[in-house]
Amino acid sequence: MIRSVVLSAGKSLPRRLVKNAELEGVIETSDAWIVQRTGIRQRYIAADDETTASLGEAAARAALDAAGLTVDDIDLIVLATSTPNNTFPATAVEIQERLGMRHGFAFDMQAVCSGFVYAINTADLYLRGGMAKRAIVIGSETFSRILDWEDRSTCVLFGDGAGAVILEAQEGEGTIGDRGILAASLRSDGSHREKLYVDGGPSTTRTVGVLRMEGREVFKHAVGMITDVVVSVFEQAGITADDIDWFVPHQANKRIIDASAKKLGIADEKVVITVDQHGNTSAASVPLALCEGVETGRIKKGDLVLLEAMGGGFTWGAVLVRW
Ligand code: ACO
Repeated sequence: MIRSVVLSAGKSLPRRLVKNAELEGVIETSDAWIVQRTGIRQRYIAADDETTASLGEAAARAALDAAGLTVDDIDLIVLATSTPNNTFPATAVEIQERLGMRHGFAFDMQAVCSGFVYAINTADLYLRGGMAKRAIVIGSETFSRILDWEDRSTCVLFGDGAGAVILEAQEGEGTIGDRGILAASLRSDGSHREKLYVDGGPSTTRTVGVLRMEGREVFKHAVGMITDVVVSVFEQAGITADDIDWFVPHQANKRIIDASAKKLGIADEKVVITVDQHGNTSAASVPLALCEGVETGRIKKGDLVLLEAMGGGFTWGAVLVRW
């Protein structure tokens, strides 16, 4: 059977690093509060000339270089983002143009922080369905543009950045030993949409709006939702937490990550953490963490890697990949 094998990962971060201490001068907060409640120590903030498209392009180029490929080898670009350059056309087609790619097809997906998990699953279906041979899956965000910089309960949490992976359709045996995407579980429940949303949009206010969040409510649901989809993926694949080599969760809050890993029985040393370095980069967080895992030599060919994310909607999902 066809499997979507991950060939490489790449990333891009804005030039400007903002440590917690710098925010102390802007709003009433402290490094100690942010670290204790979230684990975040710093984040990167995009300058005017750094956009979701430019960061996404740079991450895609890094992933292409790491795989030794060019855009000529790619048929499909799927971009996960909630902060597109424009309402339309899709930022994915702008990235396609920036990469000099004149063939194939490109589109955006919007599932907020779960965007990359949705996008890699979607690309997997296109590859397994035979509509494409190789895909770039990107998560790119400039959440700094949709933050209320006077709301200390949200503005300290987020950062900008992009990560990308290249998927290639390869023949597998149809067993858990295959490389590639092995199982996935996606969920959404719109009854929670007002717990985490942006208070504007083209069809309602004709504005972009800013992020609003009931942090405690999100926290309350996060661990249960994350562990439910992970257990579903374990059941599909016939594995347990002990079989996992690396757990690469959405990087929203260290306390949510720790509680999820504990509930699932995944050892701390198997968890890739980047929330301390990047803050919550929404759809970019999982590919940024994947890239970090690969670049530091932790995630290696043949490793069993578990991805998960949960975000606005609510949306949530998990994907199991043999690297
Ligand atoms: N600095 C200092 N104090 C603060 C700050 C700040 N930046 N922000 C809030 N506070 C204060 C509050 O005003 C409150 O003060 P009070 O007790 O005098 O009223 C106190 O700190 C506690 O506030 P809580 O909101 O109860 O703090 P909590 O422990 O819940 O932590 C947090 C807040 C970090 C937002 C947490 O609820 C959280 O992480 N929630 C989940 C968020 C998340 O994971 N989102 C992911 C999805 S993102 C996506 O999909 C786009």
